[in-house]
Amino acid sequence: MITLQAIVVCMAIISISAAEHSERKKRQHDSPISDLLAKFHQNDYKLEFERMELVSFNKQYLRKLEIVTYKYNRTSAVVNVTWWTLNDINDFNVIFQAYRFASNEYRLFPMRFQVALCDALKSNFAGLQRYRRCGNFSGCSFLKDVPTRVCNWSPDESQLPPSIPDGKYMMETQAVFRNVDLFLLRIYSTVYRPVTKKEHKSK
Ligand SMILES: *[C@@H]1O[C@H](CO)[C@@H](O)[C@H](O)[C@H]1NC(C)=O
Ligand SMILES: *[C@@H]1O[C@H](CO)[C@@H](O)[C@H](O)[C@H]1NC(C)=O
Ligand SMILES: *[C@@H]1O[C@H](CO)[C@@H](O)[C@H](O)[C@H]1NC(C)=O
Repeated sequence: MITLQAIVVCMAIISISAAEHSERKKRQHDSPISDLLAKFHQNDYKLEFERMELVSFNKQYLRKLEIVTYKYNRTSAVVNVTWWTLNDINDFNVIFQAYRFASNEYRLFPMRFQVALCDALKSNFAGLQRYRRCGNFSGCSFLKDVPTRVCNWSPDESQLPPSIPDGKYMMETQAVFRNVDLFLLRIYSTVYRPVTKKEHKSK
């Protein structure tokens, strides 16, 4: 329970509106959000990425948004994402809300945070920089009216917040550009510790 409280506190601190801080026109490496995101490192748990499901997207801003999850090999799932923006979108905010599976349904889990996508990319949050593996996305900013593709992407567990308890999770991911919803997606994964550590609590 102490761990859970620590997460809640940590998340509360970092849910600062990215829009607010970009107004200050500071360089991104000075921003407190980047500094905090840079601390999202862990090697305590493993993540089994299952799938990403697109719930909806805004057709006034996006001509197309397609997400396909497929098995890259026997063990790893990856996504191919293609988008095509209709408007100039340079950066947008992403709000994450975690749900944890318990008693047959996903229930609200006390982890919620908001980041500006370009900050998240820069600090490699969740392994976002793996977009370089495959496709033709060249990072912030976004090209208007050109289809762009990222393929074979999967989250990097080592770039996630520490101390998440084992369980099945659904991360509801909402993208907002200037108070307009851009898209909503759900990311399903399982957090697990493969080896039962011996009971000498060395932390
Ligand atoms: C599957 O692909 C992932 C990502 O490239 C790799 O890390 C993993 O070792 C592969 N697993 C097998 C069984 O080939
Ligand atoms: C990315 O690749 C797609 C084809 O897969 C192509 O239609 C598009 O023009 C490319 N976009 C960029 C930004 O190079
Ligand atoms: C995803 O993209 C990769 C690389 O272009 C391609 O080999 C693969 O067939 C695609 N998978 C699906 C399901 O579209």
